Amino acid sequence: MGHKTIDELVRADEGLVSRSIFVDDEIFQQELRQVFSRAWLFVGHESLVPKPDDYFVSRMGTESVILTRDRQGQIQVMLNSCAHRGMKLCRYDHGNNRTFTCPYHGWSFSTDGKLVEKPGELVGVPGHATHYKGELDKKQWGLKTVAQVVNYKGAIWATWDPDAPPFLDYLGNMRLYLDAALDHRDGSPGGSEVIGGVQKWRVKCNWKFAPENFIGDLYHDISHRSVDIVGIGPGGGKGRRDPSATRSAICFPELGHGLLGRLPFYEEGPYAPQYARYPEVEAYFRQIHEQRERTLGSAMRVQLSVGTIFPNMSFHGRQPRTLAVFHPISATEMEMWRMYLVDKDAPEAVKEAARHYFLRYSGPGGMTESDDMENWTGATEASMGAISRELYFNYQMGVGHAQPVPEIPGCSVNGEYTEENARIYYRRWAQFMNGLSWDQLMAGSVRAEEKAA
Ligand code: FES
Ligand code: FE
Repeated sequence: MGHKTIDELVRADEGLVSRSIFVDDEIFQQELRQVFSRAWLFVGHESLVPKPDDYFVSRMGTESVILTRDRQGQIQVMLNSCAHRGMKLCRYDHGNNRTFTCPYHGWSFSTDGKLVEKPGELVGVPGHATHYKGELDKKQWGLKTVAQVVNYKGAIWATWDPDAPPFLDYLGNMRLYLDAALDHRDGSPGGSEVIGGVQKWRVKCNWKFAPENFIGDLYHDISHRSVDIVGIGPGGGKGRRDPSATRSAICFPELGHGLLGRLPFYEEGPYAPQYARYPEVEAYFRQIHEQRERTLGSAMRVQLSVGTIFPNMSFHGRQPRTLAVFHPISATEMEMWRMYLVDKDAPEAVKEAARHYFLRYSGPGGMTESDDMENWTGATEASMGAISRELYFNYQMGVGHAQPVPEIPGCSVNGEYTEENARIYYRRWAQFMNGLSWDQLMAGSVRAEEKAA
């Protein structure tokens, strides 16, 4: 590699993407700079840090970051690396800390707005008066913090880039669908929470395989045929596939986001039992469905199965709702995280049933996720060779058949089975990799203000 330009590697219009972008170390380093240091990234959910001083260790690209709620209740995101000699401040996955004290030489940092002007400021230095003769300027040596952070309906997003556009502009009209996953579009009275902890595991594949799959690969259903036959759907009956649900590949070409779902102007069908095995759970979902039908009316008519927000966050909508994030580790390894979302005020039995369903469906031991992991690992491994990495993957399904969706500015649709969404994802990836300015990156997008109009 190294001889070909990004535009030679990603020929999205022709449906060709070089295998080398899934295995090459130089490309990987460039991704960390051009994609992960600039884009808005999903770092967690507010329910992971419910109380002041709670922290949760997350990742942004390959960087370890601390997601914490300060004493004033604000969410802060900072690099999990001491300003002195770089030691990780938090070595546990989560906890509660008033100050973050480094285990190496004992510097400590605070987010308490009463003590510090800036979150992550250095507040304690052993030997400051003696060894440092009082000369170390503590204000200069705080933790690196993200440039922007947003709590959007409980989901926390951050970017290192001060010039990045507001998150809602970055999201564009994909918001319609993300909202369905985050709070059903009605704020989930009482809010949503992540249950059962965060599942984390490593997969020996390039990180892009996963968001590409979630952005609209209905074609891979054959991978899950055994699961369909066994029938592990929430109702236990007909398997994971609902034949009545015709879906489309919907995407936002200017932004790189996309999903499999139905367009909002489709009629929402009557509530179809999903948890028939659990009458209490079934009754709960039916009741909230009917209630939402009354209060949301046509605004409710958003259905999705899976979607991806560029670059590395994906979600399932409706019930069950899940959030996933795919962290790059190296060109050929990723760390996959999954969080399961339920209404905070749902009865315990509903949360339990949802948790059981999540565990058998998704996650490292889940019956469908293990199918996907096998495919992505195999594809990565079989693209590492001197011969194989020179070849291109084929993304030609449905080239030239995308149609605009007049009802949703910035949106297009391309039938049920298509690779349109993968093409727009890699086109977006190439724009970031080519180092386009934010003005260029956002030129064709539909801004939040226009959406409101
Ligand atoms: Fe943290 Fe020295 S590395 S105090
Ligand atoms: Fe799958």
